[in-house]
Amino acid sequence: MNDPRDTQVTAEQTAREEALIEEVVASFEGAGDERLKVLMQSLTRHLHAFIREVRLTEDEWNLAIKFLTDAGHITTGTRQEFVLLSDVLGASMQVVAINNPEHANATEATVFGPFFVEDAPEIQIGEDMAFGAAGEPCFVAGTVKGVDGEAIPGARIEVWEADEDGFYDVQYDDGRMAARAHLYADENGEYDFWGLFPTPYPIPYDGPVGQILAAVGRSPVRASHLHFMVTAPGYRTLVTHIFVRGDEQLVIGDSVFGVKESLIKDFAHHPAEAPTPDGRDLGGRAWCETRFDIVLAPGEGEGMRVSGA
Ligand code: BEZ
Ligand code: FE
Repeated sequence: MNDPRDTQVTAEQTAREEALIEEVVASFEGAGDERLKVLMQSLTRHLHAFIREVRLTEDEWNLAIKFLTDAGHITTGTRQEFVLLSDVLGASMQVVAINNPEHANATEATVFGPFFVEDAPEIQIGEDMAFGAAGEPCFVAGTVKGVDGEAIPGARIEVWEADEDGFYDVQYDDGRMAARAHLYADENGEYDFWGLFPTPYPIPYDGPVGQILAAVGRSPVRASHLHFMVTAPGYRTLVTHIFVRGDEQLVIGDSVFGVKESLIKDFAHHPAEAPTPDGRDLGGRAWCETRFDIVLAPGEGEGMRVSGA
């Protein structure tokens, strides 16, 4: 079969290709919803521009359809291959960037990821969100404030992370709920809890997205992080994580492009003999601590959660 990339594109051919685009664009003119019309017409133009720019072959198009089919087949309630695709293409972070414009000194947002679970257990300030998950205990403390420095008492803080083996609870098939919780800031907007020292882990790479990463020589590993989602009435919902200064994955690169300099935090490691900030007895385990002072931008309630399953 002839490779269309080898053939000169004649003026007639160009005219045929452009006429098709206009025909498809026009087919959306009758959309009742103006926004839907804009989205479909723009998608059409960009998709056709891509196809024409690379002079896509029929084999390549069939491969793309197979990829999407495989992504659909592997997707379940707890495994979202399309989210992973969006993440590794940087699309999730681009949507985050568009929808979370910088606001004064507000804490920056980053990718949501597919491992958030509604109804994680509530813990009180000072309690442990690990619930037995393996890892080095980590004391996390901070404040939740607005951009003008006002404390936000009662702000709801969701936290979740992988264990030291690099797995979230939902990736085990025993139904465990661990290394996730929610708590509320106190009357001064302060909070603290025990979690785990974050470790690097790969995003699930046993599916079609993993195959693409392997084919292009990209690592599936994410920089070590601890997820936060913070909500309070009158403030924009913040979806973010903190990263570990010194983590070599920060240099190698984060597979979903989620790192922002302002979110890299110092974690101080302490030997088992060192007294803990709240006097907790860790039974002879070494521990670490970090601080995360959160600043919420003004806005209305539930923000978006890009990349939620
Ligand atoms: C996560 O941080 O949990 C995550 C983000 C994107 C893809 C997979 C996992
Ligand atoms: Fe994560």
